[in-house]
Formats: sequence, structure tokens, C-alpha cells
Amino acid sequence: VGGGSSMGTAKAAMAYARYPCGVTDYFGVPVGAGRPIPGPLLPHIACPTTSGTGSECTSVAVIRLGEIDSKFVIGSPFMMPDEAIVDPTCTETLPANVVASTGYDLMCHALECYTARAYTRWDRVEDPARRTLLQGANPWSDMAATRALEIVDAYLERGIADAADHEARDQLMWGATLAGMAFGNSGTHLPHAMSYGVTHLMKHVTTPGYDVPSPFVPHGISVAVGAPAIVRYLAPGAPGRHLEAAGHLGADTRGAGEDDAGDVLSSRLVDLMRATAAPNGLGGLGFGADDLPAMAASSARQKRAIANAPRIASEDEIQSIYANAMSYW
Ligand SMILES: [Fe+2]
Repeated sequence: VGGGSSMGTAKAAMAYARYPCGVTDYFGVPVGAGRPIPGPLLPHIACPTTSGTGSECTSVAVIRLGEIDSKFVIGSPFMMPDEAIVDPTCTETLPANVVASTGYDLMCHALECYTARAYTRWDRVEDPARRTLLQGANPWSDMAATRALEIVDAYLERGIADAADHEARDQLMWGATLAGMAFGNSGTHLPHAMSYGVTHLMKHVTTPGYDVPSPFVPHGISVAVGAPAIVRYLAPGAPGRHLEAAGHLGADTRGAGEDDAGDVLSSRLVDLMRATAAPNGLGGLGFGADDLPAMAASSARQKRAIANAPRIASEDEIQSIYANAMSYW
């Protein structure tokens, strides 16, 4: 019961308790050994209390490892909850800033699903067991992702502004679950990969409104602050998808061509961020130019997510995208 951290912790705890091993053994290479979780875990019911993570319907857990101070994903079909209890009334007392940050997470999950490298572009494998768990954009995840984007457009500002707006908070919870089902299928890509560089280097950063003792950037904000710059970089790899995603998110795409896709989507993301009091890029969080090389080196380790993007970013390109994400308005 809880947000993404609680549900992910529960999934990982069940895996390590049932099949003990070194902490990084289940992490993907190069950080971990890429060892698969060998078999079923205990029966598992997940109940989200935020409208963002979607962890109640995914087979992944995200772990932050203190030794290397970064986040990595453990994925296994055995970590999928047996049941999910998705009750929007759990978010009735959720503070506005948490509705916002988790809403950005939901938005980026949907956006990344819809713009991911198409499932038809992955190499064929001889052994079905070697098939990737997260398989890129596909017709099923497209359906869920597009509806989730429409929900963000229609309800995110309302759900933040008024805790008594039950229609908005109900819809955001449904959108989070939909986007979770979508990205649990297709995977996320560069915005999530680059969010881990943000949380890796956040030693001197705090986020107003979060009463926590340590440096802290909420996951959804760590993803959203890079997104407008990242979609400008990625759009040439799948321009039609970026333009369609912008339309589902409420952008006016009339007259826009494929060359405009990055600008149109980026502008819509910036408008949404400004309307919901998001930090103004990395600079708005307190990062400076000196942080960027280390952030890029950290994010470049997220090989699987980077490979799921429609355009493959090198470490140098990641650093220049971060530079473009310092300030948007
Ligand atoms: Fe996320």
C-alpha cells in the first residue's frame, strides 16, 4: 500500500527474501549480473495511494542503490502483482504538489510508451526466454497511452487545483493505471533514463513542499524537468508519433508538419508545467552547468531504456540535452 517507492520495495523484498542473492544480481548489466528471478514469489496485492507510478500493474521495481547512488530497474514477470486494488478515494487527501509530481510521472509514462522504439524494430531472438520483457511501442500499449495522455490534458490541472474535484482525481488514478499497463508492456525510454542522472546528482537539491530530511527530487519531477528538451531531440526519430502525442495532450497541431513535431510537443509540455507550478527545468531545481557531465555519465548507464528510444543518444548528446533543459521560460 503506497506510492511507487512502497510498492517497488515490496516487490524487491519478496524477490530477495524468496531467492537470496547479491543486491545487484537482479539488476541489468553493466551494473548488475542480469540474473532472472528464478520463480514465483508470494501472493501479492498492490494498492496505490498516488496517481502516477502504475506499479500496481507492472512487472518492475525501481531500486535506489546507495553505494552507487543511482536507481536501477529489476524486471520479472514474477513481480507482477496478483491483484491490484485501485481506489481513487486513496488520493482524496493527497497534497496538490504530490498530485502534480505523480501526474508528471503518469504523463511521461504515457508519452514514452507512445514514442518508444516500435516493437517491430527489435531483433528476433532464437529463445523465447531471451525476449525482452519491455518490448517497445505496440498496438496494445498505444491504446492505453493515448487515453492516458488525454486524461492528463483534461484533468491534471483540475486534480491539482481542487482536492474535492472527485471526477478529476478519479480520472487521474485511472490514467495512472492505464499508463502503468502501457509502460509495463512497452517500457519507458530516454526521459526516465535521464531522470536517474537527476536523482543521482541531487546532493545539493531540495524540492519545496516536501518535508524530508535528505536532498530530494520527486521521481515525477526528475522526469518532467528534462522532458521538453528530450522530445526536441527525439522527435526526428519518430516525428509522426511525437505530433500525435502532442495532439492527445491537447496541443493545437493544425498546420503542423513532421518538422514541427518536437517544437509542438515541447511547447505543450512547457505550458502544462507552467500551469501546474513545476520547476523551471534543471536550473529551477538548483542544478548548474558543473553538474551536467556527471549527470550524463550516470544516465548513460541506463542502456536498456536508452535503447528503447526512437533515437539513440550518446553520452555527449545526453549532456547537451541536459544543457538545453536548464531553463524553459
Ligand atoms: Fe516513472
